[in-house]
Amino acid sequence: MTHLIAPSLLAANFLSLAEDIEMVNSSQADMFHIDVMDGHFVPNITFGFFIIKQIRSMAKKPLDVHLMINEPDRYLTAFKEAGADWLSVHYETCQHLHNTVNRIRELGMKPGVVLNPHNAVDLLLDILPEVDLVLIMSVNPGFGGQAFIERTYSRLERLRELRQQTGSDFLIQVDGGVDTFNAPRLIKAGADILVAGTTVFKSPNPLQTIQDLKNAGTQ
Ligand code: DX5
Ligand code: ZN
Repeated sequence: MTHLIAPSLLAANFLSLAEDIEMVNSSQADMFHIDVMDGHFVPNITFGFFIIKQIRSMAKKPLDVHLMINEPDRYLTAFKEAGADWLSVHYETCQHLHNTVNRIRELGMKPGVVLNPHNAVDLLLDILPEVDLVLIMSVNPGFGGQAFIERTYSRLERLRELRQQTGSDFLIQVDGGVDTFNAPRLIKAGADILVAGTTVFKSPNPLQTIQDLKNAGTQ
């Protein structure tokens, strides 16, 4: 499978969000990455259902919603109604992760689980067959534009090993500090989906940058 690109709207210009959504629509990107932060689980607050619904009304590609919120179970239905196609929750925000994952699937979304840089990849061993996505954070969540954590490569390799060992077929996503320089090595280490915020939206030519990320590792 060729890898997928998920531009993170966190780095978009919200004063002209429609233009940035159209740019992603017309690009080689595969999905929109949407970062929801609550000011509790992470030290930053972003946006919620109202904005996601607006994005949904224009977006021609799936919405990949990354929840950085405590007690996500309270809001699963609301995210479905807002238009989420993929819904990912952080490992430590769910007391009964197995239930949460099943509920997300029952609601008609693709469930994902997210690991912070300090979480051992092996923590997920018994939930791997149940999920469609595992997101390995390559920065501490909360802000765009942070420096990539080098240890991510070996974590991706380990997750790929566990996928094979468990006979699972989830996609492996990486998020934080992704750029056109580290993309080839991330893909080689096992990343199926590259999330990129700053690299795409602060680029002088976002369409070209998305194409460069899409072509990364294929030459
Ligand atoms: C960080 C978010 C990321 C963020 C990535 O907590 O989960 O999705 O937008 O931004 P960049 O690509 O700028 O590191
Ligand atoms: Zn994210």
